[in-house]
Amino acid sequence: MKHLLCFLSVVFVFFCCAACGEKKDSDALVVGTNAEFPPFEMRGGANGNEIIGFDMDVAREIAAKNGKKLIIEDMKFDALILALNSGKVDMVFAGMTVTPERAKNVDFSIPYYKVTQIVLLKQGDEAKIKNIDDLKGKKIAVALGTTGDSVASTLTPADKIIRFDSVFEAILELKNSKADLVLTDEALGEILHARNPDLVRIDLPFEDEYYAAAVKKGNQSLLDQINASLTSLKNTGEMEILLERYFSE
Ligand code: ARG
Repeated sequence: MKHLLCFLSVVFVFFCCAACGEKKDSDALVVGTNAEFPPFEMRGGANGNEIIGFDMDVAREIAAKNGKKLIIEDMKFDALILALNSGKVDMVFAGMTVTPERAKNVDFSIPYYKVTQIVLLKQGDEAKIKNIDDLKGKKIAVALGTTGDSVASTLTPADKIIRFDSVFEAILELKNSKADLVLTDEALGEILHARNPDLVRIDLPFEDEYYAAAVKKGNQSLLDQINASLTSLKNTGEMEILLERYFSE
């Protein structure tokens, strides 16, 4: 009996420590993002280095509803799902497209935004690209681990895909003539196009993509909160207003 009690207390202490290690602050809701994706997440605000954007507004609202403070963990995009599943973050808001592959590892919220991939290339090159097949064999710059990366992989050999941590770096590669084109999500592509009038945007019939937040598989209570917040933002029209505001920044 004594041994059993001793064993049980060791197990108890072990689990407590494991739990403490996983979540340091139970008053906090931790969102994982990659703040290089305006208008959904980017650095800006009063001091220029705050992480702002549509996704962060929704995340903050969910934290407030739960009576928790929001902690934002900024990391590489391709590290987000791992961070979610290891308990480093509670949810991911990162303009993340729902894909069947990702849905095997996380639970997605209701979708909140629809995009498609677009092509950005240098002025003068536009005549060469009339349809998706014309992208085959081209040097394509993308952000690592994104849907742009997956689409590029279906079009061009692996050694012709140039992967960066952000689309901003991919654009530099294009401007330096080291890539033929950039493949990126439409919302960010639109902003980049506006900032770089020397680039041309080409729309091709790529598949529609839907953004959703992600939680660890089975975290239904948080998923319900996220869905409720997204639904209310949509129904009140606030979502449109917020996005417009961030697009025009
Ligand atoms: N929608 C694309 C994807 O899910 C790109 C998202 C990039 N988001 C970011 N915060 N960098 O792969």
